[in-house]
Amino acid sequence: MALSGAAGSLLGWGLLFWGATVGASKVEVSMLETVEVELGQTARIPCNFSIPAESNYAYINWFYIHKNNRTKIYYMVRDQAFEPDREYKGRVAMENDFTFTISRVTLQDARTFVCQVGAGSLGVGENRTKLHIYKTPEPPEIQVNDAGIPVTSKEIPKIAECISKNGFPAPNITWYKNGSPLWQDDTQVSILSTLTKESSGLYTVRSILFAHVSREDRQSRFHCEVSYRLLGADQTATSEKVNLTVFYSTENLTLVIHSPQPQVREGDEVTLRCEGDGNPPPEYNLLKVQEGAQPEEKDLTASNGVLILRKVKKEDSGRYLCRTFDLDSMMNLETGVNLSVNYLEGLKITPEGPIQLQQGDVLALTCDARGSRPLEFRWKKEKKGKLLGTGKQLKLSNVTLESSGNYSCEVAVTGVPGLSRSKQVYVAVHAKPQISSKDSLVPVQPNELVTLMCKAAAFPEPKITWSINGKVQNHTDRHRVISNLTVQVTPDLLQSGVTCTATNELGNSSHQFTLKRRTTTMSPPIGNTTAEPIKKEQKTQESKGVIIVAVIVCILVIAVLGAVLYFLHKKGKIPCNRTGKQDITRPDARKDEIVVEVKSDKLPEEAGLLQGANGEKRPAGDQAEKYIDLRN
Ligand SMILES: *[C@@H]1O[C@H](CO)[C@@H](O)[C@H](O)[C@H]1NC(C)=O
Ligand SMILES: *[C@@H]1O[C@H](CO)[C@@H](O)[C@H](O)[C@H]1NC(C)=O
Ligand SMILES: *[C@@H]1O[C@H](CO)[C@@H](O)[C@H](O)[C@H]1NC(C)=O
Ligand SMILES: *[C@@H]1O[C@H](CO)[C@@H](O)[C@H](O)[C@H]1NC(C)=O
Ligand SMILES: *[C@@H]1O[C@H](CO)[C@@H](O)[C@H](O)[C@H]1NC(C)=O
Ligand SMILES: *[C@@H]1O[C@H](CO)[C@@H](O)[C@H](O)[C@H]1NC(C)=O
Ligand SMILES: *[C@@H]1O[C@H](CO)[C@@H](O)[C@H](O)[C@H]1NC(C)=O
Ligand SMILES: *[C@@H]1O[C@H](CO)[C@@H](O)[C@H](O)[C@H]1NC(C)=O
Ligand SMILES: *[C@@H]1O[C@H](CO)[C@@H](O)[C@H](O)[C@H]1NC(C)=O
Ligand SMILES: *[C@@H]1O[C@H](CO)[C@@H](O)[C@H](O)[C@H]1NC(C)=O
Ligand SMILES: *[C@@H]1O[C@H](CO)[C@@H](O)[C@H](O)[C@H]1NC(C)=O
Ligand SMILES: *[C@@H]1O[C@H](CO)[C@@H](O)[C@H](O)[C@H]1NC(C)=O
Repeated sequence: MALSGAAGSLLGWGLLFWGATVGASKVEVSMLETVEVELGQTARIPCNFSIPAESNYAYINWFYIHKNNRTKIYYMVRDQAFEPDREYKGRVAMENDFTFTISRVTLQDARTFVCQVGAGSLGVGENRTKLHIYKTPEPPEIQVNDAGIPVTSKEIPKIAECISKNGFPAPNITWYKNGSPLWQDDTQVSILSTLTKESSGLYTVRSILFAHVSREDRQSRFHCEVSYRLLGADQTATSEKVNLTVFYSTENLTLVIHSPQPQVREGDEVTLRCEGDGNPPPEYNLLKVQEGAQPEEKDLTASNGVLILRKVKKEDSGRYLCRTFDLDSMMNLETGVNLSVNYLEGLKITPEGPIQLQQGDVLALTCDARGSRPLEFRWKKEKKGKLLGTGKQLKLSNVTLESSGNYSCEVAVTGVPGLSRSKQVYVAVHAKPQISSKDSLVPVQPNELVTLMCKAAAFPEPKITWSINGKVQNHTDRHRVISNLTVQVTPDLLQSGVTCTATNELGNSSHQFTLKRRTTTMSPPIGNTTAEPIKKEQKTQESKGVIIVAVIVCILVIAVLGAVLYFLHKKGKIPCNRTGKQDITRPDARKDEIVVEVKSDKLPEEAGLLQGANGEKRPAGDQAEKYIDLRN
């Protein structure tokens, strides 16, 4: 009993002492609740303590706690440090501010560490910090079910699998569809996650997403995200985004015509394309409805629902059908489209050419064609001529020689751009020669060379003959003939005059030129402006004409004077110069040539000035161009 009493009192003392020591401790230790550190890095665990003034600590102990057991791993007594634990030897240290450091932390270091401060009579104080170890997991890898997923699948199909390796503590995985998270539910989505602890102590998390899909999910994008904590913060890493191959049946079928323009024309390349909205696309069957009393269908060979008509013909018009049978839904689908090929054919002009008419006849042409729509007719003379009329018929009354030519009929199909044709017919109006003439009186000087021009229009082409011989130059322009006769003026010619005659099968026509000796006095050949003496050296064409005449007159005067002086003196020179600038010693024979043109007043565009016809070279300048306009 006594022994037991003594033992009991001893225990009581001990408890009392411990209680007094703890209860009366003046040492306060302040520590962080947790410290976080990444695997392999150095953990820093601060330990602050306060001791009443002017005292110092006696020792500091560091323990770790494992299953309620304390293991001392470091202590300091009188500035001497000791590392009694094998596991931590060489990895631990204490800094001047009593911060405890553990380098190269391992997963086993995820423990509670105790800092105990002893200060002799003042007692012992302690506090503790939990060390958390973190390890960033590897980025998640996603693997989509690439076999394709039918929308009609009965059990929930597997969409994709996501894996994130070697994290600590265990991360978790979240699934996303088009950016929105997916949660497990009873009917549509099922997520199966597994966590594996690797031999290293790190965790690998794996998650499989099962979900029902719809046809809209062909465009959905899925991804997974791994979440973990690092140094007190929530972190995430996402996988790449993947899309699915979704199988669904064809619901809608379309048959579309592709052509260069909305209105199909003969000769266009036309493509008929049948498309169903199923995946995979169904087998298409293209048919054409054969019109008739008993409409029947003709199979067309088309590849993948595409039929190309390279040069479409009007016979290709009609109704086309596309059919498909969907194996999933066991349904027949059909769609159709009408192709209308515009055409223009059978263009003809009646009467057929060439058409021979007499002057004054009526020209009546009819143009006709067949087309898929109403036609527009346009008549032109020559293809690029101006518009003569519209409508099927063209009527020209009282045709003349000028009416001859090609008449073209242009046909276009209304409302179909680019579908037009044209045809032309040649019309010849027969006419007896007509000499266009106005001036017949030609002022001349004896012995000079004069060129006479005779213009005749007729069909068939006329022949022009002259009443006298001379140098003849001809020019033919369609049904118009021009003939130039160059002769020397002789007294006989002055008397007889010259006649040109134009002849064809239908008759003939003549024109008489009367040659008249020019008087020496200046008569105004052109208007009234040249009647005035030329004082200034005018460079206009009229003034030059006057100069020419003046020079000729001078020459004549000199000739007469010369003859008189020859008998009186042996040599003599008499100046003659109206303007004071012309020299009479010029070689003058060449100046004696005059061109007279007889023009048609019907052809104003050809009206011009008479000009020197011969090709002789003259001194450049005043004598190079000579004109006499005989029109009034
Ligand atoms: C441990 O330290 C914290 C922070 O300073 C403090 O709030 C707490 O009271 C301390 N615990 C003990 C038992 O001293
Ligand atoms: C320890 O003391 C320092 C300085 O007074 C202070 O900055 C720090 O926050 C303290 N640490 C703890 C865990 O109380
Ligand atoms: C505590 O440590 C002692 C030796 O240090 C050991 O014998 C005992 O089994 C440990 N207790 C537990 C619960 O680990
Ligand atoms: C794991 O996911 C849950 C929600 O399901 C979340 O509350 C938790 O914070 C996540 N864990 C981590 C470590 O991110
Ligand atoms: C995913 O979608 C993109 C564009 O939306 C496409 O280019 C790609 O081929 C698709 N991938 C799969 C596997 O369907
Ligand atoms: C099929 O076509 C109908 C009518 O054009 C339309 O309402 C429907 O949304 C289409 N279905 C699909 C799957 O495109
Ligand atoms: C297509 O043609 C068929 C006969 O070939 C006709 O019955 C149907 O009305 C046409 N459809 C359209 C849209 O023109
Ligand atoms: C036909 O034309 C000619 C010449 O242009 C004219 O003289 C004649 O009067 C015209 N006749 C009729 C019927 O118009
Ligand atoms: C009329 O057309 C023919 C052939 O198209 C052509 O040879 C001829 O020169 C044309 N005639 C006229 C006057 O343009
Ligand atoms: C000019 O035409 C006439 C008939 O029209 C012919 O006799 C003559 O030989 C032609 N002269 C020349 C140079 O062509
Ligand atoms: C006839 O004379 C005129 C005026 O000089 C000239 O323009 C034309 O070229 C000549 N014609 C021929 C065929 O020589
Ligand atoms: C020339 O004649 C026109 C009309 O023909 C007249 O107006 C003008 O005054 C005349 N000039 C002279 C200089 O006589």
